[in-house]
Formats: sequence, C-alpha cells, structure tokens
Amino acid sequence: MEIHSTIPALRQTLQGRGRIAFVPTMGNLHEGHIALMRAAREQGDTVVASIFVNRLQFGPSEDFDQYPRTFAADCDKLREAGVDVLFAPTESDLYPTPQSYFVDPPDLQHLLEGEFRPGHFRGVATVVLKLFNCVQPQAALFGKKDYQQLMLVRAMAEQLALPIAIVGVDTVRAADGLALSSRNGYLSVRERQQAPRLFQTLQTLRQALLQEGIGQLPRLEQEAAANLDRQGWKTDYIAVRQRANLLPPSDSSQKLVVLAAAQLGRTRLIDNIEV
Ligand code: PAJ
Repeated sequence: MEIHSTIPALRQTLQGRGRIAFVPTMGNLHEGHIALMRAAREQGDTVVASIFVNRLQFGPSEDFDQYPRTFAADCDKLREAGVDVLFAPTESDLYPTPQSYFVDPPDLQHLLEGEFRPGHFRGVATVVLKLFNCVQPQAALFGKKDYQQLMLVRAMAEQLALPIAIVGVDTVRAADGLALSSRNGYLSVRERQQAPRLFQTLQTLRQALLQEGIGQLPRLEQEAAANLDRQGWKTDYIAVRQRANLLPPSDSSQKLVVLAAAQLGRTRLIDNIEV
C-alpha cells in the first residue's frame, strides 16, 4: 500500500490507475470501515482510503482532541484489506490556509444530528468535497450507519453534478447488535454491556410502527425515548422519518427509517434501521 500525505503526490500516483473507488475515514478503523474497503474493491480498479480527523466537523465542546488516533494499526488493517493507496494528509496539507470557502448544505443539515451538532454537516460536506477533488474518484463509499451523512453527500454529488457514484454500505454490528463505531472505545465495561439497548429500542419501535401504523406517531417515538431515558440514557432524538428526505412521514406508502442518537455516560451513540 502506498501512503501519501500531500495532494500533489497523491494526484501524481493516481494518474492512469483506471476507475478509482474512494473511502474517506477519520481512522481508528474497525470492521465497519473494512466492509467499505471490501465493497470498494468491487467498484473500481484502484481502492483509495483516506484518514483525516476533520476539525471542521467537530463542535467546540466535542471530542476533536480526544478522537482516537491509531495510525499504525489502521495501516495494517488497510493493507490486509487490500487497499492500494492511503491518503493521510496533515492539517496543514489539507488546510494550508484556514478554510474559508464552505459547502453549505440545505435544510437537511439542520435536522436530527444537525439540531444537536450545529455546523457538523457543513464541515463534513466541505471536507468530503475537498477530498473528492484531491482523489477524483469515480465511486465513493459511505456507511448507512451515518444515514444523514450518506444522504447529504449523495444530494451534494447530484446537485453539484459531481461525476461520482455514491454507494451506501450496510451497517456492521457486533454480535449483540451494537453498531461498530470508533466512539464505542469511550464506553466503560458496564456501559458497553448496556450499549446494545439503543439498537434494541430501534427494533422495538420499528415493530410497534409496523403493527400500529404512522397514525400512532409521535406517541411511539416519545415512548421509545422515555424508555431509553429510564435506563439511564440521555436521548437526543428517536425519530421515524421518510427515507427520501428525513422529514416526518405524511402517508403510509412512504419508505421509512428510524434514527436515534443518545448519550450513554459521556459517549454519544447514533444508530438507525430502515423499516
Ligand atoms: P468515520 O466516522 O471514520 O466513518 C468513515 C465511514 O465509515 C463513514 O462512511 C461511516 O458511515 C462508515 N462507518 C462507520 N461505522 C460503520 C459501521 N458500523 N458499519 C458501516 N459503515 C460504518 O464518517 C466519517 O468518518 C467522516 O464524517 C468523514 C466522511 C470521513 C468526513 O470527515
């Protein structure tokens, strides 16, 4: 695997490499990330991954400084997964001058995650477009674990006519159902035991929704959140939304997704399931 940290070196090595499939990450890689690398193999001749902890998408009181940085172990995992090229810029490689041009996504950026993490998706969209410009892939892969992020990147690619296929990959879970996440590493042993409750709550809400219908919203959402809070969580949201636009459902023919974010101790976890 080749490793490059500067944009010119990356661009040079990617010339004449055929169809490029790209997986952006912030590192601290787990099986969820590796599933994206494997899916990328099927999307291109050359698989490029990036590792960059993007300051722009962290709020002032979020975990940018503590975000786990495990570069050597990440490289081993990427090599094993058959990744061809790793782009690992430093902050001054990617932001040599303070970034002052931004991608400002539409209203979608203010819903759900956006309500609790103001500016987050503006930071995500900006770095993703910049990484796309560095790598110039024909396909890019994103996890459904970050459902709103996937939708936002897909809409950005469409609206800005980026010649890139955006591919969504199913969430990889631990045996007990917990969605794999770099932030799971913040959980204490006891919290780790309680953490699958988030996915269980989503499943229970989905079941209730299938039985009782969208007429029973928002009661079902409120009950789900109250249930989680009673178990010691602090729920930010549990919401049934249309897959197409993440707005509340308005009729029963729409395809739906249930999304949740909740804090367990000091760790904020997110998850979702399609209905
Ligand atoms: P990061 O959290 O490192 O995630 C990188 C990619 O891995 C994202 O597309 C995410 O959805 C996917 N992913 C994470 N956990 C997963 C799981 N359990 N199953 C399947 N896919 C999973 O998301 C980011 O980084 C950043 O916002 C980024 C897009 C790199 C921009 O900075």
